[in-house]
Amino acid sequence: MAQYQSFPDASGDSRTLEKLKALKLPDLAGRSFLDVGCNEGFFCGFAKFAGASRSVGLDRSAAFLARARHRFPDCEFHLRDWSELPEGPFDVVLLASALHYAEDQAALLHRLAGALTEDGVLILELGIASSPRAEWVKVKRGIDERYFPSMAQLTQTLAGYAWKWMGPSVDQAGDPVPRHVIHVSRRRPIAYLLMQPPGYGKSSIASNLFLPAKVPVVSGDGVIQRIAKGQLNASPRLKKLVARDYSPFTIDKTIQRVFDEKAGPDLVRLWHAENGRGDFALDGFVPLKYHEQVKEQFLLADYMPVVLQWERLTPSMAPMAGMDEYAESFNQSILEVDGYGRIPAASKKMSPPAGYVDEVQAHAGRVILRGWAVDENGDIPAQLVVGIGAERNFVDLGEPVERKDVQRHLKLAHARLGYVIDFPVPGINSLAELGKKGLSLSTPSGRPLRLAQRVIKSMVSVAEPTKPE
Ligand SMILES: C[S@@+](CC[C@H](N)C(=O)[O-])C[C@H]1O[C@@H](n2cnc3c(N)ncnc32)[C@H](O)[C@@H]1O
Repeated sequence: MAQYQSFPDASGDSRTLEKLKALKLPDLAGRSFLDVGCNEGFFCGFAKFAGASRSVGLDRSAAFLARARHRFPDCEFHLRDWSELPEGPFDVVLLASALHYAEDQAALLHRLAGALTEDGVLILELGIASSPRAEWVKVKRGIDERYFPSMAQLTQTLAGYAWKWMGPSVDQAGDPVPRHVIHVSRRRPIAYLLMQPPGYGKSSIASNLFLPAKVPVVSGDGVIQRIAKGQLNASPRLKKLVARDYSPFTIDKTIQRVFDEKAGPDLVRLWHAENGRGDFALDGFVPLKYHEQVKEQFLLADYMPVVLQWERLTPSMAPMAGMDEYAESFNQSILEVDGYGRIPAASKKMSPPAGYVDEVQAHAGRVILRGWAVDENGDIPAQLVVGIGAERNFVDLGEPVERKDVQRHLKLAHARLGYVIDFPVPGINSLAELGKKGLSLSTPSGRPLRLAQRVIKSMVSVAEPTKPE
């Protein structure tokens, strides 16, 4: 019997050591390994050497297997046809220089992929014929005639998997077909997550990009609406949170509350239940601080989450968050007429705020404020004055946070305008307590910063006594 694999003590037709290097095997320590068409067991021996917990070889040649058992007694060898695989699953399955011997090559590939663990990888070392068409190309070799897939054919056959070309393999004497190494793994359905705030163009992207590509789109707002109308089987706490003050115009606030009150996972479950199984795009606002949590949940649900993020190009809504106050001020200014019935110049226009407080948190004796501020020179001030009740604190601002939305809105040369203030306020343990005392911010020169409406509401709504049910 001819020698195929090469060992230091036996030179064969195949350059086995070079092939091993070309395979680019993953870390095998603690993993289970199966070599299909293992021949004299070189790769099984390597797997054991690399710390594999189980190293199994399969071949239909009794003579090759006898030698394999002799060389590598720690490995497990099965004398059988590859139509019947040893009990798995396996973390790594190898099929090297053997696919062309299968009668139904596609069926063998699917069978091997089916023997993988959830995160397992199938290592294929195979000849790929040169043809632009998707076909199995008949190739005359020194010893026989065999069919080899073209790249287009392989792409078609492996369409349901995630796979990657890893590089060329070693040439085989007498075989004109160039050999390649491909790693194949199970393909999880992809969840394209468009979670940016309202007004970012999520729905336009969904309908211009995903729908034409036949990727179904789940509407986050649509799901909330159907929960509100009792058309979806939502958890009782989710139903209650949505029903509290549902309005189709303030769904983002409802979603914020759902996540703040820890019912986000219930909502995410409904989002992927909507889709069934398979790729889909989510067009649904999720507050930034919960993006990671949503991504994790999709990973655990066996999806590959792809988070899409982009910048809003139209002016940001953030500086307009005080629009209600502007409107009130304008209304008030109408009464402030001079003796001739004219509005005094100073009342005609509110001076723009020196910045905003976009987010506030208060717990365990600390207050955290996020927002932006700008001084007369267009820079972030070095300090802000934070008023809590009657007390005034001068707080140093650390490294500025980039706020491109503010930069665009104010047409400034730079975006280093954001701040995060985290400072101790003994006795303040909740937004309700902070709301009762009162919060104000200004620059050291006395120009006030405005509290965004949602900040005011967050302190007021939690400060209001809750009615007994
Ligand atoms: C060209 S050798 C490759 C050996 C090894 N995989 C390598 O690359 O060094 C092909 C191997 O596949 C085995 N083989 C061919 N058809 C098979 C089948 N239907 N079931 C199991 N083994 C098979 C042969 O006995 C032979 O050992």
